[in-house]
Amino acid sequence: MPQPHLRTVVVLAAGEGKRMKSALPKVLHPLLGRTLLGHVLTAAAPLAADRTVVVVGHGAEQVRAHLTEIAPDATPVLQAQQLGTGHAVRIALEAVPEAAGTVVVINGDVPLLRAETVAALVAAHEGEGAAATVLAAEVPDPTGLGRIVRDAAGRLEQIVEERDATPAQRALREINAGIYAFDAVRLRDALGKLSTDNDQGEEYLTDVFGLLVSAGEPVGVHVAADHVETLGCNDRVELAGLRRLLRDRVNEAWMRTGVSILDPATTWIDVTATVERDAVIDQNTQLRGTTVVGAQAVVGPDVTLIDTVVGAAATVLRSHAVGAEVGPGASVGPYAYLRPAARLAEKSKVGTFVEVKNSEVGPGAKVPHLSYVGDATIGAKANIGAATIFVNYDGVNKHRTVVGEAAFIGCDTSLIAPVEVGAGAYVAAGSAISQDVPPGALGVTRAPQRSIEGWVARKRAGTVSAAAAERALAEGASAGGPVAREGEAIHGDAETVGRPSAAGDTATE
Ligand code: UD1
Ligand code: MG
Repeated sequence: MPQPHLRTVVVLAAGEGKRMKSALPKVLHPLLGRTLLGHVLTAAAPLAADRTVVVVGHGAEQVRAHLTEIAPDATPVLQAQQLGTGHAVRIALEAVPEAAGTVVVINGDVPLLRAETVAALVAAHEGEGAAATVLAAEVPDPTGLGRIVRDAAGRLEQIVEERDATPAQRALREINAGIYAFDAVRLRDALGKLSTDNDQGEEYLTDVFGLLVSAGEPVGVHVAADHVETLGCNDRVELAGLRRLLRDRVNEAWMRTGVSILDPATTWIDVTATVERDAVIDQNTQLRGTTVVGAQAVVGPDVTLIDTVVGAAATVLRSHAVGAEVGPGASVGPYAYLRPAARLAEKSKVGTFVEVKNSEVGPGAKVPHLSYVGDATIGAKANIGAATIFVNYDGVNKHRTVVGEAAFIGCDTSLIAPVEVGAGAYVAAGSAISQDVPPGALGVTRAPQRSIEGWVARKRAGTVSAAAAERALAEGASAGGPVAREGEAIHGDAETVGRPSAAGDTATE
């Protein structure tokens, strides 16, 4: 005989969840970073059970596959036909003959349940040596739930399902949360005596309580401090309600640790994400998966971060990132898209309408506008001009581009990989670079410019352009560019830097 198990957890997850109207089994629906089942298993984890059994049925293959991922130690047990919660626990215990001591049973659809509450239920149960203890809650609307029926002295008499209840019992607002602790031996015994004499013709786990009471066994009721924890999920409206409640719980917890959340109603932080002190999360922001936001970072508004690490004091504005790393003090957005393995070093910048994938942007390097950076290594302090495209894909294979330290890439450049631009090199705006540029050299592939005098007057006569040209020529304006009136900036010039004589305008900053 193997060692007896002193604690066994049984999670009931075989039901279909008809009202979800979904191809996905109910317990696999996601809720801020975990599935409903994942939340329940997390709440049970600190019990350190010798064995955790998950009863599967509807969508068994999907649920098993999910368990392999999130709880490989759990034992799935198949309940081929859903003949009731009592039947489910009976089948679960048949698979664990070693179960002695305490058996904790949890409905798989109670995702807001806290570990502390389960632990308190088990402590009360074990402390009193009860045969069975149910977690109860006083709720504003008990519709559809089993009611806790007490005698005149306040002792549990039975748990009755709503559809089997008398009008007086229906009026009770103390409900069965679907979470229990049992003494294994007495549970097995009572499960063998369950009838199906009820409205649904099922074996009700809840009937175990009435049977134990009749046999004079001590049973207990542990009332949850916060009824919200006991809310179940039966349809998508309830799921959305639970998501809001969990969102508020998570946001409050982070705010109490010193995180500023400017608009908690539009900030959705997965339970698996981490936010450090003095970070500021602005509105419409989602932090998903294993995302970490560092101290004093500013994230949002309008940001989604999935499995992304944001360093201390970095800023991310109106952007979407998946599997990326944003270094300390770096700046992202507005409107950037960081894809897997985008690694932005300290104080680097990825600006507006820039997409970065599988690339390193070195310390202090800048990619400020309208660029695609794929499969690249960009050195420290390099400046990548607007509309630079890292041409990484030849239709079959991906190739890498290396841009050296403090290199300067002019606007509207294609860097055709595999290619390397050396440290301190310049690339002239409008170039298509397919050969390496040595350190300190200027790479340029531009065709020389021609200006064909009088072309507009000849080919576009009668247009506003022709009229403007005629006036300008009459006033003898130079062709050297726009003339600023007093107190007026010339568009573009304020931002344009680096006009090496051979290269023309090469980059913006
Ligand atoms: C159950 C309780 C009810 C309680 C409510 C709390 C019973 C008879 N009633 O009702 O008193 O107030 O939970 O939410 O237990 N399941 C199986 N196999 C089955 C049947 C159900 O694994 O044969 C699983 C379901 O997947 C679900 C859980 O057990 O996770 C509860 O089943 P459900 O049908 O939702 O029970 P309720 O009617 O909500
Ligand atoms: Mg239910």
